[in-house]
Amino acid sequence: MNPRVLETARLALGHLEPSDAEFILRLVNEPSWLQFIGDKGVRSLDDARAYIANGPAAMIARHGFGLYLTSTKADGVPIGLCGLIKRDALDDVDIGFAFVPESWGKGYAREAAAATLEHAQRDFGLRRVVAITSQDNARSKHLLESIGFRFERMVKLAPEASELCLFAWETRA
Ligand SMILES: CC(C)(COP(=O)(O)OP(=O)(O)OC[C@H]1O[C@@H](n2cnc3c(N)ncnc32)[C@H](O)[C@@H]1OP(=O)(O)O)[C@@H](O)C(=O)NCCC(=O)NCCS
Repeated sequence: MNPRVLETARLALGHLEPSDAEFILRLVNEPSWLQFIGDKGVRSLDDARAYIANGPAAMIARHGFGLYLTSTKADGVPIGLCGLIKRDALDDVDIGFAFVPESWGKGYAREAAAATLEHAQRDFGLRRVVAITSQDNARSKHLLESIGFRFERMVKLAPEASELCLFAWETRA
């Protein structure tokens, strides 16, 4: 059972465990992940377990937040990742999400992202959260705008990297 962090009407978001390696191996090799997020070099279940340990689990140990496994409450089937990330290259915490294609177009990603924003505000006191997307990631941009993010500027995470769109959300509350 993945320790649960957040719950929405249809979804449960919880910590990733080594037993989620099979799902992670699939997700990070989806053509959409490879196109819009990049190749993490995860080719085996061992690689996927290492990705979980060194990525989301390490982030949670360090900051208290990270990418969470997102599953449908009705049947407990994992459909994606959604959560918060602190990168050295950005001053602000950013929101990240990726779902398997058969779960797209149902509003699941938006539901998870909206709950993650509330979590950022409520549990970590964040008043500003950013997001980065490649310029041609129309679905991601559309989702971000639908939950209150606005395009701010172009950024590069490394000098030789390609330019990404930086979106920002700020609360007045
Ligand atoms: C980005 C990504 C998460 C978006 O997924 P998505 O399913 O398109 O996003 P949403 O959850 O916002 O779904 C939106 C659509 O679901 C439909 N929908 C169906 N039922 C719905 C419901 N109950 N509530 C809301 N929307 C619903 C709507 O038509 C909506 O489209 P609209 O906003 O034009 O009305 C997905 O494309 C993905 O995983 N991509 C690969 C990884 C990636 O690019 N990650 C981002 C890196 S920056």
